Amino acid sequence: MSAQHVEVPIPAPKEKQVLIKVEATSLNPIDWKTQKGILWPILPGKFPHIPSTDVAGKIVEVGAEVKTLKEGDNVVAKLTNTDGGGLAEFAVAEERLTVVRTPEVSAAEGASLPVAALSAHQALTQLAAINFHGSTGGGGQPKNILVTAASGGVGHYAVQLAKLGNAHVTATCGARNIDLVRSLGADEVLDYRTPEGAALKSPSGRKYDVVLNCAIGISWSTFDANLTKEGMVIDFTPTPFSMMVSAMRKLVSKKQLIPLILKPKRQHLDYLVNLVKNGKLKTVIDSKYSLSKAEFAWEKSIDGHATGKIIVEP
Ligand SMILES: NC(=O)c1ccc[n+]([C@@H]2O[C@H](COP(=O)([O-])OP(=O)(O)OC[C@H]3O[C@@H](n4cnc5c(N)ncnc54)[C@H](OP(=O)(O)O)[C@@H]3O)[C@@H](O)[C@H]2O)c1
Repeated sequence: MSAQHVEVPIPAPKEKQVLIKVEATSLNPIDWKTQKGILWPILPGKFPHIPSTDVAGKIVEVGAEVKTLKEGDNVVAKLTNTDGGGLAEFAVAEERLTVVRTPEVSAAEGASLPVAALSAHQALTQLAAINFHGSTGGGGQPKNILVTAASGGVGHYAVQLAKLGNAHVTATCGARNIDLVRSLGADEVLDYRTPEGAALKSPSGRKYDVVLNCAIGISWSTFDANLTKEGMVIDFTPTPFSMMVSAMRKLVSKKQLIPLILKPKRQHLDYLVNLVKNGKLKTVIDSKYSLSKAEFAWEKSIDGHATGKIIVEP
């Protein structure tokens, strides 16, 4: 069934939840993949399912056991995948995945962060062992990182975070976004529709220690030819087949394919909101839609050609 507008009661927050008057929601591919059942066993928890998990707004009610947030706080929250709830005027969020947003961070910027920036942050810090304290992330030399689909929601944050982690960044995107991706800090940018771009060859001849693969449809042999001996590909779109390849690679090679499954953490969301506040992380907004036209935002996300984030505002 396709998306429809329905009237539902304003949800009531449970003990450890807050009720947010939504000011902005951002869409992610996981929203429509959940609706289409592509991510089975991740399915909507109940129907009608209100999609979208990334919201910013103002708290209008707090549950009885909420200790760190209060009515009137401007916040950013990551809602759960099964509950969703973001494409609405009001949404309930868990206290443990809600952080305060100061006036320097707009609602649209805040709502853009949860899935896209948290997953880029998780990949870089937990899998690629990049840290953001000015060091090289181990080994003395800056790591060589490739970010594919660097013009997308995840990729545009990944480029900036990798640079904050002192990496050398090669990025792929379409020709129309090369200047943008360079302006986000990428050292080298490849047009993915050219033979060199499709081959992922670094113009300076570098091999990659880490690939953040935010694109789909790139073969292992293409990555293999460009990885260092112990290089890794972090797969943002794992499938049952790629999970099997990942397990097999562990047995035969030091070059690894690692599936990424986002495990959102409040302190990381807080960290990212602060980066935005301090002007160290920019959000590129592809387009904004009103809630009454959310179906157009939905189609835009499914189309797969957004530059940055798609925002819906009530
Ligand atoms: N595992 C997780 O926890 C997790 C978390 C977040 C996201 N993801 C997944 O990560 C993927 C990326 O998410 P997203 O939000 O960044 O998607 P997105 O914003 O929809 O990505 C769109 C962008 O990707 C570019 N692109 C598409 N194919 C490309 C290719 N082969 N090479 C270079 N650029 C390409 C497009 O450029 P053009 O318009 O020029 O084609 C467009 O700018 C999705 O599959 C998503 O489901 C997974």
